[in-house]
Amino acid sequence: MYKLIRGENFEDISRKVAEHIINKAKEHINIKGSFNIALAGGTTPVETYRILGESEMEWDKINFFLTDERYVPLDDERSNYRMIRGFLGEKANIFPFDTSKEIRETCRLYTEVLKKHAPLDFILLGAGTDGHTASLFPNSVWYDDDGYTCWTVDPTGLKRVSLSLKFINSSKEVALFLTGEKKRSILEKILKGENLPAAKVRSANGETIIFTDIDI
Ligand code: 6PG
Repeated sequence: MYKLIRGENFEDISRKVAEHIINKAKEHINIKGSFNIALAGGTTPVETYRILGESEMEWDKINFFLTDERYVPLDDERSNYRMIRGFLGEKANIFPFDTSKEIRETCRLYTEVLKKHAPLDFILLGAGTDGHTASLFPNSVWYDDDGYTCWTVDPTGLKRVSLSLKFINSSKEVALFLTGEKKRSILEKILKGENLPAAKVRSANGETIIFTDIDI
């Protein structure tokens, strides 16, 4: 079941995503004193992360996880951790994948971290035009999937580490964030429920939020 939340344009929907996260953080912190959220990499969420980084939140009560990471050093320009840290700043409590380890150990260590905070309260995901989400690429092997994390090789041959589909779908709220005409076709396929990783993500209650500026 999809819940579409639309914006007029990239700036408007980016702001709406940021506001949703800020409100969810307040809600969960009021109830249980913490908010556990996983953030996507890529380019779509950058304006949202910029807004979050400038927002008043109870930062010490928020744990940020990554939906996935490129298997590169954390200071590499391709690193999702580096991008997110850059926008949220040093005040944010971010749990990076330790990509200095052998890739299966990287996943095992992150699985141990996730177990201490599962289920997450909110996961923000992007989607590629091929229908991937996080680093779960269609027609590819998701190695050592232990129900929390897995590792893969993306179409460019770059190794990636990722939350598993099962773990994503254990979360209290899951959202896909797609903007721009280039994502219209894949958004239509997701809504049709085609056999694509991005069409398989949903929260534990069966709902998936879709944030978009596409007038679908
Ligand atoms: C990554 C992301 C990935 C991303 C999609 C969409 O590591 O790149 O986690 O899953 O969300 O590729 O990327 P864009 O937002 O740049 O279109």
